[in-house]
Amino acid sequence: GIGNSTNIVWHECSVGKVERQKLLKQKGCVIWITGLSASGKSSVACALSQSLYRRGKLSYVLDGDNVRHGLNRDLSFKMEDRAENIRRVGEVAKLFADAGVICIASLISPYRRDRDACRALLPDGDFIEVFMDVPIQVCEARDPKGLYKLARAGKIKGFTGIDDPYEPPLNCEIVLTHNGGINASPSELAEEVISYLEEKGYLR
Ligand code: PPS
Repeated sequence: GIGNSTNIVWHECSVGKVERQKLLKQKGCVIWITGLSASGKSSVACALSQSLYRRGKLSYVLDGDNVRHGLNRDLSFKMEDRAENIRRVGEVAKLFADAGVICIASLISPYRRDRDACRALLPDGDFIEVFMDVPIQVCEARDPKGLYKLARAGKIKGFTGIDDPYEPPLNCEIVLTHNGGINASPSELAEEVISYLEEKGYLR
């Protein structure tokens, strides 16, 4: 019927994921970076894509803030819309991974069930969840866009970490810690992800 895939047939083609990965000399996967606003998701995503580029590896960043200007411009920050935001980005990330690309998604993605639904879209091992483990006090002190200030003043309602929930991952692949106040740079944190990818054979 309308709104589902009842009458749609899946097409296969002789050029598949295996061929594309051979061409690119890498394995497609999704690196899903979750964490509070101003926890450093975008900076790590950017540093990671730069590092991969220097190694001759193809990556693509899907950033929450940016995607909300286009594909997801119709979505708000209420729970159902955040879920739809994550669902769409998860589906797009899956396509990138199938294309052989190392897709880096950086979104707050505050709900565990939404992140787990994205994980379930990918083959085992190909969804690599990275938690930006930064205390809210640190994020709020950074406040690069002044949004925490607005949220505290009640001028933004439902701001993650202030008056909206954030559920930290329970079993993620990588935790990037704030290191007790000694700030690691985004590129140092990105190298931790690179090591993981090397170890797991994604960068052959
Ligand atoms: S989510 O929860 O995954 O759908 O959010 P995301 O798409 O990553 O968008 C987060 C950025 O939107 C800005 N913003 C808010 N964040 C949280 N809560 C509320 N209510 C809100 N309103 C606007 C904010 O700048 C986030 O940017 P980042 O890059 O995370 O700091």
